[in-house]
Amino acid sequence: MPLALPESTLPHPSSAPALNWGILGPGWIASQFAASLNDLTASRLAAVGSRTLARSEQFARTYGDAGTRAFGSYAEVLGDPGVDVVYIAVPHSGHAELALEAIAAGKHVLVEKPMSLDAGQTSRIIEAAKAAGVFAMEAMWSRFLPIGNVVSQVVKSGILGQIITVQADFGAKFEVDYDSRIYDPALGGGALLDVGVYPIAFSAMVSPAKQLLHASGRMAKTGVDATFTAVLSNEDGSTAMVFSSIETDSPQGAWIAGTQGTLELQRPICCGSGLVLRSADGKIADSREFTETSPTAGLGWEAAHVAQCIALGLAESPVMPLAESLAIAQTMDQIAATLRTS
Ligand SMILES: NC(=O)c1ccc[n+]([C@@H]2O[C@H](COP(=O)([O-])OP(=O)(O)OC[C@H]3O[C@@H](n4cnc5c(N)ncnc54)[C@H](OP(=O)(O)O)[C@@H]3O)[C@@H](O)[C@H]2O)c1
Repeated sequence: MPLALPESTLPHPSSAPALNWGILGPGWIASQFAASLNDLTASRLAAVGSRTLARSEQFARTYGDAGTRAFGSYAEVLGDPGVDVVYIAVPHSGHAELALEAIAAGKHVLVEKPMSLDAGQTSRIIEAAKAAGVFAMEAMWSRFLPIGNVVSQVVKSGILGQIITVQADFGAKFEVDYDSRIYDPALGGGALLDVGVYPIAFSAMVSPAKQLLHASGRMAKTGVDATFTAVLSNEDGSTAMVFSSIETDSPQGAWIAGTQGTLELQRPICCGSGLVLRSADGKIADSREFTETSPTAGLGWEAAHVAQCIALGLAESPVMPLAESLAIAQTMDQIAATLRTS
């Protein structure tokens, strides 16, 4: 098999089937997502719900069309028959409750990452979605980008040989504001759930984790984890080292090393800017740049994937399966428990 990067097999978002979106929590990521819906010819922002009506009205004016409905509650979006799927974009602490309410209302759900605060909540979302027969997915948008598609193809093709190690990191220097979501334990703040989920999900895409071998880090004075390093033993026999922080920048890259070659994903890990494929002797065999390096340029691919899955009648995504979201949550639970006691 040639040591070369395959082409992305993804159709462009503009060709995605029609879907009526409802958004809960018109904050920062919701604005990026709503802007990216403009790349999807047939999908539209049908409704938006905020705890404050003026905020949803402003959001609908900015990102919607003449028919977009603005509500002063989340419940009204869930009761809107013109909404097919709900994008849950509130802080992590609100994901599970709203996902369960949306599912109970018969809506498909796209839940921002992390899917919930822990594996118990994620498990309840999965069971409820399966029982209701609706589509549910964690919004791990990196996987639906062309770069994510190419990485997945490389891993599945076996051209790297036996995988020996995966290394992935996401450190980002957040403003030290102890009143902000990122430092607030009540809102699920901290590095692990916010940015750590990316390197953990990257490693899980290569191989499911079998055991947590090590976790250590630093806690912020609000009680959330500020920085951590974890080492995982994976089911395929490889070892993964993941690092994450909200108090320092890091290379924000990822690296898969096998006996026949290595694949480097260049920063940022959420929406990589490039891939470098090397042969076993370290020589560059292939490389490529990618342009979807921001949420507005990238979230449309995720929205398109959801529209394709729902149009096909799928209850979950083959690219971000529910069992994998649960496994990621279980790994994060183990890391959190170790950090709390160390
Ligand atoms: N995919 C990505 O790249 C990405 C990037 C950033 C964040 N995220 C995820 O998206 C979620 C939201 O993050 P964000 O940065 O967009 O947050 P944000 O700007 O603070 O917005 C969150 C929104 O949720 C609503 N909300 C409901 N309960 C709240 C509460 N108790 N405190 C504060 N806001 C509350 C608020 O809207 P109303 O008050 O108007 O209802 C607020 O505008 C998080 O889970 C995060 O992990 C994903």
